[in-house]
Amino acid sequence: MKVNGKSRVYAIIGNPVDHSLSPVMHNAAFKELRLNSVYVAFTVTSGELKTAILGVKSLGLQGLNITMPHKHAVMNYLDEVDVTAKSVGVVNTVLCDHGKLIGYNTDGSGAISALQENGVYTEEKKMVLLGAGGAAKAIAYQASKDLDELVILNRTPEKAKKLAKSLKSFGAKVKSGTLSQEIVKTEMPTTDILVNATSVGMYPNSGFSPVPSDILHSDLCVMDIIYNPLNTQLAKDARAKGAKVVSGIEMLIYQGAVAFEIWTKLPAPIEVMRKATLNEFKK
Ligand code: ATR
Repeated sequence: MKVNGKSRVYAIIGNPVDHSLSPVMHNAAFKELRLNSVYVAFTVTSGELKTAILGVKSLGLQGLNITMPHKHAVMNYLDEVDVTAKSVGVVNTVLCDHGKLIGYNTDGSGAISALQENGVYTEEKKMVLLGAGGAAKAIAYQASKDLDELVILNRTPEKAKKLAKSLKSFGAKVKSGTLSQEIVKTEMPTTDILVNATSVGMYPNSGFSPVPSDILHSDLCVMDIIYNPLNTQLAKDARAKGAKVVSGIEMLIYQGAVAFEIWTKLPAPIEVMRKATLNEFKK
């Protein structure tokens, strides 16, 4: 499709955004479905967030992704925030519905879809989730609706405890603790799914893993939400132990797919989005 006067415009807003993979992923999806839509990136500083969001309304943009540092602050300028995003306190997707801006969080459902679509069933399973930041929270909210047992471990245990407490009403058995070698070692033999939602192992500190490799086992599924590098130290260690690995790029693709479906009400072309995103890493 050619960009013309009727093109629908979508954007990611953040600072920095110039390395975002979302424009490539969503433009590939628009092209595949022959939609007259285009996705661009806007660098917006914190001081300009309010006027940028007002501009989104005036210019009639159709949808947004929100990234650092605006994922929380943007809620102040939206007309509605859905219940999951409100509970998590983080908005990463905005639907512009006839001038009304509605905020969503697609990280949690993206992570669970990435597990399920890679053949990992989340029901009646025990998950150990490392981290208690924004991404961990989103995953915890979604996971605690499906899982039997969730253990949240964080460097700062108070944050894990607070998150666990807020999840009590969802029915899963939720525990929390410190992200320490001893606790991870105690939990791991009975764990089915291990998710790293800390920043340990992210570029430029790529050689690090949040857990020692000797506690990993072949019955585990390990998901690292880090996608830079594509193959984290944790993912390498897990593969070496024969564990199933779902890489961070899968969560990125599925959270994008959920956003795409919120905006267009059409099934997201996952394969095309995956291929376009992975191609960026070859450059
Ligand atoms: P995001 O939005 O990506 O989740 P975040 O909210 O800043 O980012 O959360 C980062 C997570 O990584 C937190 O759980 C953080 O632990 P603290 O709550 O104790 O800060 C965790 N993290 C960051 N650096 C870490 C490190 N060196 N060791 C262990 N955990 C770390």
